[in-house]
Amino acid sequence: MMTTIDSSDIAQLDKLTRVQLATSLPGVKPVALIGTINDQGQTNLAPFSSVVHLGSNPVLLGMVTRPDVVERHTLANIVKSGGWTINHLTPEIVEQAHHCSARYPHDVSEFEATGLTPHFENGIPFPFVSESPFRLALELEDLIDIPANGTKMVVGRVTCIQLPGESLSEDGQLDLPGMGLVASTALDTYFTVSHLARHPYAKPKA
Ligand SMILES: Cc1cc2nc3c(=O)[nH]c(=O)nc-3n(C[C@H](O)[C@H](O)[C@H](O)COP(=O)(O)O)c2cc1C
Repeated sequence: MMTTIDSSDIAQLDKLTRVQLATSLPGVKPVALIGTINDQGQTNLAPFSSVVHLGSNPVLLGMVTRPDVVERHTLANIVKSGGWTINHLTPEIVEQAHHCSARYPHDVSEFEATGLTPHFENGIPFPFVSESPFRLALELEDLIDIPANGTKMVVGRVTCIQLPGESLSEDGQLDLPGMGLVASTALDTYFTVSHLARHPYAKPKA
């Protein structure tokens, strides 16, 4: 039997249940560590699951940040420094990545707090996570307010992509399961991923 939850049911949920339900509604999501740096050279990591493809020419990705009513280190660092890294997760680093969501003060780097290793590439001032097999660097393009709830969409242009050579096909396909990448739902649940199917470009049936 299907369960139906309507607006008045949602209104009656306690806060934690509502958050758990609401953050599960998009289904399975990506999850990655966002690497940033402030103007004192202090690095920062935070897991984000709202990363979404916005366009392929230029290559644009977006992610949603919570309202900046409290200190948001990722957002503040991006606005000041103009960019960030996206470091996809494998099972080996999920627990450390999850711990990066703890509210550390701005002068504590989640790299040090979790034992993850910062890695810098020539010409890119933002920290990558050395343990991540699939990582990107982005430059800030737009910051878009979402008036409905005070969140912001951060839009970035991808300037660097790093992954194992054998995980990239000539046609641009990436072997995400082969890299052991992890997916997520809500703010506490992680999955391994396996390949199901690849279909050709769909055309209307004749
Ligand atoms: C699995 C997971 C996904 C998350 N996704 C987001 C997200 O997409 N956007 C966001 O603002 N916070 C997200 N968070 C919460 C941030 O990681 C958390 O608020 C963190 O403390 C922010 O750190 P910062 O102040 O260093 O930016 C997520 C947390 C977890 C555990």
